[in-house]
Amino acid sequence: MINRKFLIAGNWKMNGMFDSISEVCKIDQYSKKLNCDLALCLPNTIIYKAHENISHEKLIIGAQNCHHEESGAFTGDISAKMLKNAGAKVIIVGHSERRQNYFENNELINRKATSVINSGLQVIICIGETEEEKNNGQTNDVVCSQLRNSIPVISNGENTVIAYEPIWAIGTGRIPSLKEIQGVHSQLRLLITEIKGTETANKMRILYGGSVKPNNAKDIFALEDVDGALVGGASLKSEDFLGIANLCP
Ligand code: 13P
Repeated sequence: MINRKFLIAGNWKMNGMFDSISEVCKIDQYSKKLNCDLALCLPNTIIYKAHENISHEKLIIGAQNCHHEESGAFTGDISAKMLKNAGAKVIIVGHSERRQNYFENNELINRKATSVINSGLQVIICIGETEEEKNNGQTNDVVCSQLRNSIPVISNGENTVIAYEPIWAIGTGRIPSLKEIQGVHSQLRLLITEIKGTETANKMRILYGGSVKPNNAKDIFALEDVDGALVGGASLKSEDFLGIANLCP
C-alpha cells in the first residue's frame, strides 16, 4: 500500500470578508495538531490578509482561479504570479462552476495549470461529470478526457493535485456510492500511470469533492485511491472543516 499524505483543501468560493480571517486563524491554530496537509482557497480580496495572519506552520492559503498569462492587457484578471505575490501557495483551476459559467475548456485549463506551476505554485485541477453524463454511463469517459486534456506536460506528483468533483454532488448533499468514488479514482490513477508513469501516479494526490461533511468523510477517506477532499460549504466553518480534517487516516 502506498502512503500519500492526505490533503484537505477548502474552497470558500464567493464567500468571506476581512472579518472571516478569525475563522482562518482558528483553522491555522488547530491545524498544527493534524497529520494531513491543509489548504484554504479564499477569495482574492482576503488572501493577503490571511497570509499576514497565519503561522505558516501547516496551513497554506490558496486561490480559486487565475489567468493563463503572467501579465498584460487583461482587464479584471489576475495571474498566478500576482496571487503568489499576495501569499497564495496553491491555485484551483477548472472548477465546474468556471467550466459552466465561463465556458472554460480543457485547453484553457491546461494553460492556466501550466502558468500556476511555472509560477512555482501547486495546482488543483478539477474534473467531474454532469448528472446527465452519469445517468448515461459516461462518467469514466468524461473525467478521463478532462484529465488527459487539462493536465500539463510539466505536472508531477508534487506540483499537481487532481480533484474529482461530480457536478451533481456539489452543494446538493448527494454523493456517489463509495464503490463509484473508488471506481473513478482508480480509473484516474490508471490514466495518470499511462500519461506520467507509475512513480508520478503513486505520488499524485486525487481528492474527492462534492458534499463532503464530517458525517461522510470517514468512509470516503478509507477508499484506496482517495487522498483527501476538496470541501466547499463545510470549509466555511472551522468546526466542520477541522471535523473533516480530523478524520484523515
Ligand atoms: P460542496 O462541498 O459545498 O458540495 O462544494 C464542493 C466544491 O465545489 C468544492 O470545490
